[in-house]
Amino acid sequence: MDSRRYVMELNDGNIIPVLGFGTAAPIEVPKRECLEATKLAIDAGYRHFDSASVYHNEEEIGQAIRSKIAEGIVERKDIFYTSKLWCTSHRPELVQQSLEESLRKVQLDYVDLYIIHFPMALKPSKELIPKDENGKVMYDTVDLCATWEAMEKCKDAGLAKSIGVSNFNHKQLETILNKPGLKYKPVCNQVECHLYLNQRKLLDFCKSKDIVLVAYGVLGSQKYGEWVDQNTPVLLDDPVLGALAKKHKRSPALIALRYLLQRGVVVLAKSFNEERMKENLQVFEFHLTPEDMRVLDGLNRNIRYVSASFMEIFIMASTRSSCTHLVIWQTSHTLMIRDLSSGSSMMLNTSQEARVKFTVEEACAVNFCHFHKIVNVDFFKDSDLHDFFPLTALFPKLFFLEV
Ligand SMILES: NC(=O)c1ccc[n+]([C@@H]2O[C@H](COP(=O)([O-])OP(=O)(O)OC[C@H]3O[C@@H](n4cnc5c(N)ncnc54)[C@H](OP(=O)(O)O)[C@@H]3O)[C@@H](O)[C@H]2O)c1
Repeated sequence: MDSRRYVMELNDGNIIPVLGFGTAAPIEVPKRECLEATKLAIDAGYRHFDSASVYHNEEEIGQAIRSKIAEGIVERKDIFYTSKLWCTSHRPELVQQSLEESLRKVQLDYVDLYIIHFPMALKPSKELIPKDENGKVMYDTVDLCATWEAMEKCKDAGLAKSIGVSNFNHKQLETILNKPGLKYKPVCNQVECHLYLNQRKLLDFCKSKDIVLVAYGVLGSQKYGEWVDQNTPVLLDDPVLGALAKKHKRSPALIALRYLLQRGVVVLAKSFNEERMKENLQVFEFHLTPEDMRVLDGLNRNIRYVSASFMEIFIMASTRSSCTHLVIWQTSHTLMIRDLSSGSSMMLNTSQEARVKFTVEEACAVNFCHFHKIVNVDFFKDSDLHDFFPLTALFPKLFFLEV
């Protein structure tokens, strides 16, 4: 089985294997396990590998790939390798440097896909999440479009065959798509997507723009410490999923993967266990019926595993032309609204929805008048919000402010 036989065409003409091997593991897992797992995965038939600078495993993955090239099992062109730009490198002058650093680690001449990991920028730092002396996360104010232009240059320089984004909501995608002088559209948006968060609206939007949705957390994610809500239900224990697994004589994991493939989604699956990684490749051996798909659609609950809640920030709206920015973030029970053009901030008590609405209107009346349009997303249907990262997990009922 060679997973490269099952591919999808990207909007720039390159192809992506529809099943990718996830390589992220909690910090306590020795990096050597990633090296061994990647080798086993190549032997088993995986050809698409998903990594990121923050996974701190690019050396090991590169080592595994090179060893399999040396053994004659694969050639470089057979491998689809993804890396990601971390939030501390959003400033345009840092983007190519960051990619070059990843390439040095993985020891490849190019990545097949380079994606912006999150739509939020953090101050340049060697720390993953830079904090000030009071322990506050230090956000940066970089125009997403400027970061994107630097990504385009990486493609032009031949360092990345394709470029895309991750954890973007449709507004953030539109910001890029509507950028004057856009040279390349993002080829993909990699987001959390599974039976409990089926991303129907975001998927429809991506399809309408010829952007591939790449799903992570398809098997219910790993418990990555503070990144994941530890109280979430175990996806693979879902009884409806279990019943369908029994019907098809396949594991719940295979049904969960197959469901997304049949919706036209590229799926990532992480397993460092040889048996399970081989099992996941059986996803190409069976089909779900339209009725099965309908039943599985019904499992959506807008549950997000990876909330990265310590990030606090959740919306950044900007207008390129006027260079006004509005940053809003959550600090336990309050929202902070900050007008970056004047530097002024306002704390809003958000313990009650009505109060949020009132104070936002109030805020606009006071000194945020240049934000001419405030969209209250129907106060507040989860279905409208579930593609907002990381809104639903952080703050289930929220408005979206548009400039
Ligand atoms: N862009 C982003 O922000 C972002 C965020 C999170 C993840 N990702 C990417 O997406 C990848 C996948 O997501 P994920 O790592 O969160 O988790 P996942 O693919 O949902 O996997 C969750 C767990 O399922 C287990 N598993 C795998 N196959 C199984 C099977 N057949 N039966 C039962 N259990 C099985 C694995 O454990 P074992 O290893 O023990 O088998 C794994 O720990 C990551 O590795 C990473 O590359 C990207």
